[in-house]
Amino acid sequence: MSALPLHIVILAAGLGKRMYAKLPKVLHCLAGRPLLEWVLQAAYQLHPAGIHVVYGHGASQLQQTFQEAPIHWVYQETQQGTAHAVLQALPTLPKSARVLILYGDTPLIQPHTLSALLALGAQTPLSLTLLSTMPHDPTGYGRIIRNEHHQITEIVEQKDASPAQLAVKETYTGICVTDVTNLRRWLPAIHPHNAQQEYYLTDIIKLAAQEKRLVQACIADNAMETEGINTLLQLATLERYYQVKQAHRLLEQGVKVCDPHRIDIRGTLHAQAEVSIDINTVFEGTVILEEGCIISPNCILKDVTIGAHTHVLPNSVIEQAQIGAHCVIGPFARIRPATRLADHCKIGNFVETKNAQIMSHSMANHLSYLGDVKIGQAVNIGAGTITCNYDGANKHETLIEDEAFIGSGTQLIAPVRVGKHATIGAGSTIRDDAPAHALTLSEHHNKTLAGWQRPSKKK
Ligand code: UD1
Ligand code: CA
Repeated sequence: MSALPLHIVILAAGLGKRMYAKLPKVLHCLAGRPLLEWVLQAAYQLHPAGIHVVYGHGASQLQQTFQEAPIHWVYQETQQGTAHAVLQALPTLPKSARVLILYGDTPLIQPHTLSALLALGAQTPLSLTLLSTMPHDPTGYGRIIRNEHHQITEIVEQKDASPAQLAVKETYTGICVTDVTNLRRWLPAIHPHNAQQEYYLTDIIKLAAQEKRLVQACIADNAMETEGINTLLQLATLERYYQVKQAHRLLEQGVKVCDPHRIDIRGTLHAQAEVSIDINTVFEGTVILEEGCIISPNCILKDVTIGAHTHVLPNSVIEQAQIGAHCVIGPFARIRPATRLADHCKIGNFVETKNAQIMSHSMANHLSYLGDVKIGQAVNIGAGTITCNYDGANKHETLIEDEAFIGSGTQLIAPVRVGKHATIGAGSTIRDDAPAHALTLSEHHNKTLAGWQRPSKKK
């Protein structure tokens, strides 16, 4: 095996014209993560000595998105082709190294495929080893041309290919590994004499063949893994491919996914046994669904844990929250960050919670805002209860102790405390602490104006 250090060059400078967007192509997301992040994740698994990303457009956006990443940024001022892009990285590469070239627009490349490519390349020092594949439809890709001895002689781009070459099914993925010393000889010898007037990296194959260097291919058996994104259609197609694959994995683990085509996991979903996930559900960040919980249609869950046997009813949005076991949430509930529900709680329709700690067996069944609040056990929050937590400058806390009963249409003007087993009369505005075991209400009596006339519409 080769003892040379491994350096990875990721090409990401292309404008991505066919995406019709100002956003740099590699910042478009697949399953909620930028395309380049996928490639970086695969690259890290190979433990390289260095990762070099060639960029051109949206420098500040790119560097901001990846500011934590251990990347050497290489600027390519004008995009003159893939060979020109690699040429820009040469000055930052050490004198001797193996160089693996990846494309920033090929997100689903798997580390084990790259390891196989590296292992094949390491068998023959100074060889050029390519990753090729056999896609269902080779249109648009460079074709791998072999001679009668099955040796690779060149790669011909779609736009430069003859009809006979277009009939070739084996295509180039854009991924290859070779020695940096080879690149230093080959890259300056490439000319842009082709249909696109670009410096094609693929021309190194001819140069290697002329030098009688071994050119070999490792064939990736899953063409979707090496699919490059050039258009929004390709992005959408790859997104659905990836989502369906995740849905199948869940189904194989015993999670009931009602329709594998109508679930989106944009992050990591850990689902335990007998979980059921209905249609049009979106999971973002890290979501944990404990045993037997049920997620109804049209729910969005981001960075949440849902306890065992909890039922999330349709159209609920839950973010950065911990929900206990045997709870019922929704329909139409909005659970905002820092909400913690203990077991057996009920949050009903049109209830919004934020920074709310709610102990077991408490419920808010309808139309409420519960923000910056601590609620004890077995509390009943009546319809239309509002915690008035914001005075226009600062947030204040509401405390509601165990077994309190808050009548409908109550405003709790924080900071305020409702004692244990207190009852608040419906329609109250509570400005002062309400004592335990007593009824507190704000008194106002009805006023009736007899003979009053309703306004009539002006003619
Ligand atoms: C390239 C290959 C083609 C292969 C296909 C696989 C060449 C000439 N062709 O074609 O054989 O089948 O990938 O997906 O290499 N880039 C730069 N700077 C540039 C030009 C491109 O950084 O000046 C980057 C792009 O951002 C992209 C990658 O290189 O990440 C590939 O460029 P792209 O224009 O998409 O090449 P393809 O036409 O897809
Ligand atoms: Ca491409």
